[in-house]
Amino acid sequence: MKDNVILIGFMGAGKTSIGTRYAKASGRPLLDMDQLIEAEAGMSVSQIFAQLGEEAFRKTETGMLEKLLLETDGAVISTGGGLPMREENRRLLAELGTVVFLRVTGNTVLARLAGDRTRPLLQAEDKKERVETLLRQRNPVYEQAAHLIIDVDGKTPAQIVRELERRRWSER
Ligand code: S3P
Repeated sequence: MKDNVILIGFMGAGKTSIGTRYAKASGRPLLDMDQLIEAEAGMSVSQIFAQLGEEAFRKTETGMLEKLLLETDGAVISTGGGLPMREENRRLLAELGTVVFLRVTGNTVLARLAGDRTRPLLQAEDKKERVETLLRQRNPVYEQAAHLIIDVDGKTPAQIVRELERRRWSER
């Protein structure tokens, strides 16, 4: 297994913001998979969903994971919220390093992403219902894919990063 730290979890869990802080604190580079995919495709995630479809985006995620597995070590990697849903991706994640699930509740997601227009899967009429349904489907999968689970509700980013640092060492 490689020595990357990979953050998984639902949209709005804080994967990118915690990833940025943790990368700084640990002196590791941060790789944000959504950003890498956007740069490679020359399109935003929303454009990829709209023009090529979700399935094409999912294939790109798997391709990016394979590439990271060949090229990357010692990094913090933040992932898109749907990435662990493919079994193939979970296998790749396990080889890529320590998988950390940032677990968040639906209410926090809704508060954080109330005005968000960048997540195609949340542009639903009943956002609350969509979030609850996706969380029910996804949380067991995230739990299964993770080496470490951190509940993020009610914690500051600094607290979450400290917890990640501490538990990464004690629960290896
Ligand atoms: C998705 C999450 C998004 C992005 C895409 C699909 C998902 O990333 O990959 O919109 O299926 O949950 P974030 O989790 O960074 O918002």
